[in-house]
Amino acid sequence: MSDTSTDNTSISTSVPLVQMTDVGKSYGAVRAIKGINLTVRAGEVTCVLGDNGAGKSTLIKIMAGLHNHNEGTMSISGVETTFASPRDALGAGIATVYQDLAVVGLMETWRNFFLGAELVGSKLPFSGLRVREMKEIADEELRKMGVVVKDIDQPIGTLSGGQRQCVAIARAVYFGAKVLILDEPTAALGVKQSGVVLKYTAAARDAGLGVVFITHNPHHAYMVGDHFIILKLGQTVLDKRRDEVELDELTRQMAGGDELTELSHELKALGGMTNAIRTLDADLNIK
Ligand SMILES: Nc1ncnc2c1ncn2[C@@H]1O[C@H](COP(=O)(O)OP(=O)(O)OP(=O)(O)O)[C@@H](O)[C@H]1O
Ligand SMILES: [Mg+2]
Repeated sequence: MSDTSTDNTSISTSVPLVQMTDVGKSYGAVRAIKGINLTVRAGEVTCVLGDNGAGKSTLIKIMAGLHNHNEGTMSISGVETTFASPRDALGAGIATVYQDLAVVGLMETWRNFFLGAELVGSKLPFSGLRVREMKEIADEELRKMGVVVKDIDQPIGTLSGGQRQCVAIARAVYFGAKVLILDEPTAALGVKQSGVVLKYTAAARDAGLGVVFITHNPHHAYMVGDHFIILKLGQTVLDKRRDEVELDELTRQMAGGDELTELSHELKALGGMTNAIRTLDADLNIK
């Protein structure tokens, strides 16, 4: 994998693609998120980490136009915005790749790549789909991203989970997305496939997109991230740039940080130093 840290000095001065300021969202009586600040910049990966129910999906659903925030502001390229629908968000260049992937299993890979944006004959009104051209473009775009599909006619459902994520990423890049939201792209994948998806995440960033990378996994986040926020029960508990944070701190915060340290002390006080506590201590760097 190439060096994932980037020189952001020039980028940081430009207007962010997405800027959320003090954003909050309630579902009826449930306040899912509160006081969230998040910046997405071109050519950067912003990682959103957090445990189950932390508010990660709620946050990206606001950005993707599925839900509206009811506190704070969201600006897209400097303009305060509330999306009326996911189509609105897509129109503003915000593409979202969901974990379950909106792909049609039996459909050929190339057809899936162009789903909803098929090239049709331009000269005659009923001249049909430009199939050969679409196959060539899909094949070329996937190759550009380093995704090697044996046969572009292969049904998308026969590709591995990692390859499917990569097709979705390549598609977003090809259709000119400015912001790419990846909702737990590596959650269901093994080590090797996760590596592949991380590589294409970096490729999308290098193509100049602003990437929002949602994950439970601090190791994955640290491999591609330029900026990290950790959510806990709907609030931000960590907000740091890459040069301000080590992997240790991300892991520690994700593991529950101080609560686990306290638990370890309590368990020790109860007697014995079991292997489990020793492992926990080693993970948390507790002396
Ligand atoms: N549509 C909804 N109606 C009511 N409450 C909701 C709704 N969606 C989410 N919530 C609540 O908001 C909080 C945040 O949920 P959210 O799905 O954003 O978390 P998450 O970080 O994505 O979790 P996970 O890792 O499990 O996907 C939770 O308490 C959840 O129960
Ligand atoms: Mg979620």
